[in-house]
Amino acid sequence: MQFGYFNDAEREYVITTPETPLPWINYLGNREFFSLFSNTAGGYSFYRDAKLRRITRYRYNNEPTDNNGRYFYIKDGEINATWNIGWQPVRTQLDSYTCRHGMGYSIIESEKDGIFARQEAFVPIDDPCEINRITITNHSSMPRTLKMFSLVEFCLWNAVDDAANFQRNFSIGEVEIGDEGSALYHKTEYRERRDHYAFWSTNCPVNGFDTSRDAFCGPYRGFDNPAAVEQGHCFGSVASGGAPVGVHQIDLLLSPGESRSVIFLLGYVENHRNEKWEAPNVINKARAKALMAKYSDDKQVDEAFAALSDYWKTMLGHFSVLSDDRKLDRMVNIWNQYQCMITFNMSRSASYFESGTGRGMGFRDSCQDLFGFVHLIPSRARTRILDIAATQFEDGSAYHQYQPMTKQGNLEVGSGFNDDPLWLIAAVTAYLRETNDFSILEEQVPFDNGKVPSQSLMEHLRRSFRYTKDHMGPQGLPLIGRADWNDCLNLNCFSEQPGESFQTVENIKGGRAESVFIAGMFVKYGSEYADLCAHMGLKQESAEARNSVAKMSRTVLSAGWDGEWFIRAYDANGEPVGSKTCDEGQIFIESQGMCVMAGIGVENGYAERALKSVKERLDTEYGIVLHQPAYTSYRLNLGEISSYPPGYKENAGIFCHNNPWISCAEAMLGHGNRAFEVYRKITPSYLEESSAIHRTEPYIYSQTIAGKDAPNFGEAKNSWLTGTAAWTFLFVSQYLLGIRPTLDGLVIEPCVPSHLHEFAVTRVYRGATYLITVTNPNGVERGVTAVTMDGEVLDGNLLPVAPEGAVVTVAVTMG
Ligand code: BGC
Ligand code: NOJ
Repeated sequence: MQFGYFNDAEREYVITTPETPLPWINYLGNREFFSLFSNTAGGYSFYRDAKLRRITRYRYNNEPTDNNGRYFYIKDGEINATWNIGWQPVRTQLDSYTCRHGMGYSIIESEKDGIFARQEAFVPIDDPCEINRITITNHSSMPRTLKMFSLVEFCLWNAVDDAANFQRNFSIGEVEIGDEGSALYHKTEYRERRDHYAFWSTNCPVNGFDTSRDAFCGPYRGFDNPAAVEQGHCFGSVASGGAPVGVHQIDLLLSPGESRSVIFLLGYVENHRNEKWEAPNVINKARAKALMAKYSDDKQVDEAFAALSDYWKTMLGHFSVLSDDRKLDRMVNIWNQYQCMITFNMSRSASYFESGTGRGMGFRDSCQDLFGFVHLIPSRARTRILDIAATQFEDGSAYHQYQPMTKQGNLEVGSGFNDDPLWLIAAVTAYLRETNDFSILEEQVPFDNGKVPSQSLMEHLRRSFRYTKDHMGPQGLPLIGRADWNDCLNLNCFSEQPGESFQTVENIKGGRAESVFIAGMFVKYGSEYADLCAHMGLKQESAEARNSVAKMSRTVLSAGWDGEWFIRAYDANGEPVGSKTCDEGQIFIESQGMCVMAGIGVENGYAERALKSVKERLDTEYGIVLHQPAYTSYRLNLGEISSYPPGYKENAGIFCHNNPWISCAEAMLGHGNRAFEVYRKITPSYLEESSAIHRTEPYIYSQTIAGKDAPNFGEAKNSWLTGTAAWTFLFVSQYLLGIRPTLDGLVIEPCVPSHLHEFAVTRVYRGATYLITVTNPNGVERGVTAVTMDGEVLDGNLLPVAPEGAVVTVAVTMG
């Protein structure tokens, strides 16, 4: 069952009913001002940090779901009907409805009793505001008298405090009314230490306003039936304490065929301390007024919208494919890259599943997000790398998370996730392969956010590498610490008290548990580090690194091999995890994916065998589960993984993030059909028809899909903020289509399903545009027989780096 369809030409997903299985959302904003916008106009906005600068309020986990947003009510007194353009919160049946989620914008259109209304929402490229333009058209043959009400509910900035500290909050709310109610300013705490306020304004005179939620709704009533809307007029309330809202009332008289548009702006303003006030207790509105003036007529809004479209057109022009598989093309060209931008911006902070109040930027998450982002805006990737590196400790370990606004490492979680350091190497080498900007390695970056003086970024990488080398366990495998990629495999923490953190409780001595997964990472990213050293002429360092890597490879082939697959880890007692000797959790996906990607066991056949075991034991119709058999009871020595009911999340759920590891691994062994099969099973465009089962957005990857042990097998959860976006893009662009950046330039090495007989890729790389066509006349899965560039036959499949600005044509024949 479908709830909409793709419109590829417009780069949109068109939702055709407001009653989607879950709210299907979009993200507006690219840099500092962000909004989440659902198919019923629900969601919330924040400036840079979803915890510390929350602009509008959102009530998670509520019923009905998703009941706060920027809402527009239309009331027609004559026919006694009230509805919302986006259906929520009144939920009056509409005669027609669509919501189009596009690149950085969403447009809802609906009609009710001959009144057609459009809500266009977007955040302009360079300004801290969300624009909502409402256009109402009278399609009926009668003149119509309508009242329109706008609504946003302000959050008192710190989203945690806002949802917890009511004894204070009900006494601090403050607003100002400007332009006779057209501009409503939210200035809570501005009187003391805040230098910022928000506003909700409209470009037209209003017939009324409210700023107190209590007044607007009336006692014991909600946004689905506010007293002001029922009575047909606002009360002019000025919030003092309580819950500040912004409501405009605009009366409209529309003759048949007549159309009116009204522009609304949700804005955020920061003032310098010495220019906070224009009079005692009156906020300085100059910046707000400048923003309002900038977006006060249709032409200005159209231009800002066009600039946003151009921005995305250029952005997505960096990589695009044309094949005869439309579902592949729309993911590669539009949605996968779009999601990569969103995960880059948000890390794992704010979504409909992440409240934005807990985790900030994850160290490993943000490093991996770069794999899918670095080709889009390399300069922002550069800055991000330097920010992340500054949260590293002197010994190479790292804060596991940091706050986006302050960029300070999060003390509560601290460090000790022993995969983290190696992800930094992975991010930097990905950046270098894309840009060739070796100057980044000379950047001076502090440790521990400045508590320890700066060293070059290269020195940071050196310490990352050494950290793993210096933290080996009894079998010569890397110590796992609090956890590796799998946050829930907590082998050094035996937690018996509810509410304790599975990761950070330190209650057993020694921390001796080891990770075969980190060993695989060490081989993969340690080799990249060795390549980097060699590239920089550091011969000895490179040779030493290669030795350590080779040694680790050997250790994995002995201590890490179980007979038919790679073991996952050794617990604190030295017992294997992910071995046939275990009663549950006999085989795990992570070590198979990472070790094969690292090339371990390719020569002696272990790699083939491991992937065969994955197919036999972990594969399902909806993707590959994380391990089997699922844990059926809580295990002290394993931790959070066994806290989930079987089939969910890390306990044998389909964790989409590491499915592409298997795709990459299969591609490395030349298995194009299988690599594609793994890709297709979790890729949303191929799942559109099963939306009733899958439930999350059919244009976006989710973190997990319930595994075969769960009653709701096939149901996805936690859409948007997942490393799946970056890893699937890495797989599909670099392994399947095979356009792979290296330190020396682009290498072309596709590994395709045999039905893909030809495709064309446009790739902007180091400033030049490569127009690449690949033909595969015999339907092979791998193998390049000829490459020409601008008509010249090349010796091999490494493309010479074209000068900046050049456009070159590359023809590749597979066979
Ligand atoms: C989740 C993990 C997540 C971790 C973050 C766990 O509850 O299952 O997916 O990485 O929390 O702390
Ligand atoms: C989600 C976390 O954000 C990520 O860092 C982790 O690797 C996975 N969960 C697996 O636990």
